[in-house]
Amino acid sequence: MINKPVILTGIRANNDLHIGNYFGALMPIVDMAKRRVSKYKINLFIPDLHSFTTPIDHAALQAQVMHNLKLFVAAGLPIDNPEIRIYRQSYVPAHSELTWILDCFTGFGEMSRMTQFKDKSSKLMSADIDKETQNRISVGLFNYPVLMAADILLYNAKYVPVGDDQSQHIEFTRDIAERLNLKFSYMYPKGLFVLPVEVKEQHKFFGKDQGLRIKDLQNPNKKMSKSNETGRGIIFLGDKPEDARMKIMSAATDSIGTVRFDYTSQPGISNLLDIFSLFGGDKDQFIGHNQYGPLKTATAQVVGKFLADFQARLKSVNEDELLEKLYRDEEYMRTISDKKLLKVQQAVGLRP
Ligand code: ADP
Ligand code: TRP
Repeated sequence: MINKPVILTGIRANNDLHIGNYFGALMPIVDMAKRRVSKYKINLFIPDLHSFTTPIDHAALQAQVMHNLKLFVAAGLPIDNPEIRIYRQSYVPAHSELTWILDCFTGFGEMSRMTQFKDKSSKLMSADIDKETQNRISVGLFNYPVLMAADILLYNAKYVPVGDDQSQHIEFTRDIAERLNLKFSYMYPKGLFVLPVEVKEQHKFFGKDQGLRIKDLQNPNKKMSKSNETGRGIIFLGDKPEDARMKIMSAATDSIGTVRFDYTSQPGISNLLDIFSLFGGDKDQFIGHNQYGPLKTATAQVVGKFLADFQARLKSVNEDELLEKLYRDEEYMRTISDKKLLKVQQAVGLRP
């Protein structure tokens, strides 16, 4: 049991997840944890220290973290399995401490090349926020990949399922681990850190991302994303079934007049067919129809039923049980991460 390889992933504490996140992130993580737990150690954590690399409402953070965890439980994540560890990053101080040490071995140029930093900082620059905030693109945003590397290296994680936007951060994690392994090989000839496997190997291991992307209902050429302007094309997990129905009934379609599954010429209809089948419908029954209404009605029905069931499960998540689980796992994580941190502190000369 001690030597089971570690699968680790961070689940961002975003409120208002939508059905795209549900099928693209929640379900795959929950399934993975349940399927792999007998052969792997599973570490799932909320990277709450990452939450304010860009400005947020701090008064809402606590509630958001708990809400997000409950979404996972409602989606089927078992909290009665001690082999699936669930914890909050900020409750395990070694994450921050290792970050500082890794910071001092990380190049400024290396971080400047991270595309997510470039994207997020330029978005902030052009955002409708006051000049003072714009001028303070934080150092936290800049070095957040280092914190992510610490999240991974503290637990010797080999497999880290993440979206493609995070691949560069995984590569950086491998780089910094290798750099320190080499530098301190005289103390730790077998390596101070375990390298996570290459991104390509990760894809093989997890099954290459099926490329599933639910599209925005109003603009089916864009993926459904919480940063889309109006929210009218997005179905949030917290939407009332009736509101979701209205969004689906007013989804953008086309003037072709026949239901076909073809994302190039009929992206809106194809998206509805996809949504219908993701929620358990049989999309073939609509192919060839020359009316769009019945497909919309049927989609609204399966989505509405899902939302009602999901929200009922969410309500019944036992918060006390969840908190107990968190405290237990966080205590355990503090113990094992402190051991790893001590090794690193010894390597860099901070401890005898
Ligand atoms: P958003 O675009 O809403 O901000 P994120 O970028 O935070 O979502 O993505 C969180 C997770 O949800 C990622 O794993 C991503 O792959 C998945 N995801 C996001 N949008 C979709 C979508 N429209 N369809 C499928 N999966 C998605
Ligand atoms: N950066 C990841 C994201 O934005 C979240 C994350 C933080 C993470 N630390 C991690 C993912 C460690 C995997 C491993 O989605």
